[in-house]
Amino acid sequence: MPTHWTPQPRPPGTGTRAAFADVVSAGPAARRLIRTLLAALGTHRWEPWNPNHAHRAHPSPRSLFLTDAVLRIGGHRWAVDVDRRVLTGVACPPSEPLPATVELWGRPDRLPAGYGSLVDALVTIEAGHVAAVLARSATTAGLIARTITVDAVAPLPDAPVVEVALTDGFGSDIAAVDPDDEWCPGARSSGLSPRGLAADPRPLPGNLVDELLRMAGGTPTGSPAAGPAAKWLRHRVAVHAVTGRPDGLYDLHHDRLTLRTPGAATERLQAAFRFGRQEVDVAGMNLVWVVTADVAARVRTAGPSAYRNLLLAAGASAQQIADAAAAKGLFCRPVRSFDEPDTEAAIAAPPGEDVLYMLLLGRPRVLDFCYDLTCPEELP
Ligand SMILES: Cc1cc2nc3c(=O)[nH]c(=O)nc-3n(C[C@H](O)[C@H](O)[C@H](O)COP(=O)(O)O)c2cc1C
Repeated sequence: MPTHWTPQPRPPGTGTRAAFADVVSAGPAARRLIRTLLAALGTHRWEPWNPNHAHRAHPSPRSLFLTDAVLRIGGHRWAVDVDRRVLTGVACPPSEPLPATVELWGRPDRLPAGYGSLVDALVTIEAGHVAAVLARSATTAGLIARTITVDAVAPLPDAPVVEVALTDGFGSDIAAVDPDDEWCPGARSSGLSPRGLAADPRPLPGNLVDELLRMAGGTPTGSPAAGPAAKWLRHRVAVHAVTGRPDGLYDLHHDRLTLRTPGAATERLQAAFRFGRQEVDVAGMNLVWVVTADVAARVRTAGPSAYRNLLLAAGASAQQIADAAAAKGLFCRPVRSFDEPDTEAAIAAPPGEDVLYMLLLGRPRVLDFCYDLTCPEELP
């Protein structure tokens, strides 16, 4: 991990524009790179009736998309605009574009005033989601991805939050595409909430939950979820209406749930949530997944960058859970609008343990018409 970062301005959105279609004509490596960017950063779904219309492979508070991607190859850098399908920089991208690095720059300014001290955490968690989808799409496209955390002490606008290095995995076992991996980047959803967010009240089959846990616990090559900070995360799941499993608060370890406290655990988490059941029915969710860490202990051993790396790992782990949920037909709504001390009390977290992130999972009650913006023929 680099400990020093020389602030570099982001490349401006004007300059030499290279269309993706022209970049891919350079050959297979360029094709794999552009395919990776499209899958990870593109808009895959447009939901007309959702106040947050645009949807990518990763979630984003209010679909405001709090990171910008910058592609670095050799000494040159390009702003990545996946929606317009262009790279913008001072030169044309080289015909041999790998190895390349994707810098993720935080855009806290896109959040409306009022988020206060939560802004940095939201940007960093989202960057963890984005790094995870970049790693996954790279692997799927036949590249090898590696997440590089950068100097966490730099204020968000002065340095990338995180970088993902990409090398050509052609002929390498590491990047071999798993034939069972049917990842569909547009399938993940935080769920629609036309009259509040609620899960289908019918019980969720226990075997579906077991399969979900197995998928969510897979090894995500190159993602921050596979990095050292992720080992410090602690996962608990409040279970409600799952066949074969009593309601209660469970510890999750190596894909296995262990019942800690039987009872109405989701109701206790509802009481710690900032909105009532009419708006977000936390109590009625089948699974409420709570991610915590002993931040102070980790900072003591790993230094001041530890908090940011824990948030990145939490975002990346949540992306795995959300992808697994999508594969099982469930929504997965990430939330930060909870009262932290009350949530820690609701899960009986030991002193020193901080709640970082929470995910609400259930079967959707509403499905709606949406525009599918993926265009397989267009993929290079
Ligand atoms: C870090 C983070 C925090 C979020 N916090 C909340 C929240 O507190 N409440 C909520 O309803 N949604 C929250 N969301 C979910 C977004 O609103 C959701 O991702 C967005 O509407 C896009 O929908 P999609 O995930 O289905 O693409 C959060 C998402 C992220 C990444």
